[in-house]
Amino acid sequence: MAFIDGIADFRSDTVTRPTPEMRRAMAEAEVGDDVYGEDPTVNALEEESAAAVGKPAAVFVPTGSMGNQLAIGTLTRPGDEVLCVEAAHVRNYEVAAAAAVSGVQFRTLPGPGGQMTATEVGTAIDQSHHHMPRITMLVWENTHNVSGGTVVPYEMMVASTAVARLGGLSVHIDGARIFNAVAATGISAEDFAAVADTIQFCFSKGLGAPVGSILCGSKEVIDEARYMRKRLGGGMRQVGVVAAPARVALRDRDRVAEDHKVARRLADGIGDRYPEAVDLARVETNMVVVDARAFPFPVAELVDRLNKQGVIIGTLGPHLIRLVTHRDVNESDVERLLAVIDEMRR
Ligand SMILES: Cc1ncc(COP(=O)(O)O)c(C=O)c1O
Repeated sequence: MAFIDGIADFRSDTVTRPTPEMRRAMAEAEVGDDVYGEDPTVNALEEESAAAVGKPAAVFVPTGSMGNQLAIGTLTRPGDEVLCVEAAHVRNYEVAAAAAVSGVQFRTLPGPGGQMTATEVGTAIDQSHHHMPRITMLVWENTHNVSGGTVVPYEMMVASTAVARLGGLSVHIDGARIFNAVAATGISAEDFAAVADTIQFCFSKGLGAPVGSILCGSKEVIDEARYMRKRLGGGMRQVGVVAAPARVALRDRDRVAEDHKVARRLADGIGDRYPEAVDLARVETNMVVVDARAFPFPVAELVDRLNKQGVIIGTLGPHLIRLVTHRDVNESDVERLLAVIDEMRR
């Protein structure tokens, strides 16, 4: 449903506001000092999150970026290389944290849709000779944000990871939206996570909580990550007030399937009007990428007209629009958006 101020914001699934149930959970949360490991709400969230992805341990972090960076810092040494796709969040949108904090650099594969084949991974590892940096880690991103929320196929993750393991690499999943991948494929989060040593997922994206992410893995790795979290200033105190809405979000994680239906309606609606604008096959989860060159009007005018109607959209570049569905937009918001496109056609 649109926000109470009537705004429908399709820019990202990070824009959701806490539900009344989340706000109640925040108000009623039992808290303690989490740096001493004494916040019962955080402890419960960590246990429930680890169980949700079938890992023994988890550490609550303020952001997905910190979850990813703790994984890199814990599983690499300075001077190592991390293998990922060119358009990986961990490489492009975490303000060079891997280099600045952990002293590693990235080796990239083209990675359309976030995909890396076993052959590509094997070749990259083979090409890494004694005078080159050692590739010691592979990072998957599933779903892949910049590709429009596409799912990296589970079978590919298994096959390519097997090759990476032969080369001695650690494996991390940036699963900011892993539950979208689960909803789209029916493959369990445990199965996806079993591919990797560590998985990070976000409560503050499709799950709809206001804050927080979690890094899950073995007890040893998570203990080390917890130590690094403190070093980075991420040791939070009575943070159960923030973990409480995250617990509500985690419990309701299957809800993201609704967002996929709304995204499908949106994609079909635009595709019916301008077939060249949307590649329907790539609408797999809660994102719709629109090529605005298919419209007979400038994208800036569309953004402006929608804004005036209380519908906010974001652009990925001069011609590309990314529309993201989440708990605070629904089918009637989609109809509002389509109505503006129809008005502009006249
Ligand atoms: C795929 C992916 N990974 C990691 C992050 C980082 O999350 P945060 O903004 O909480 O640092 C994002 C944020 O959009 C993301 O899309």
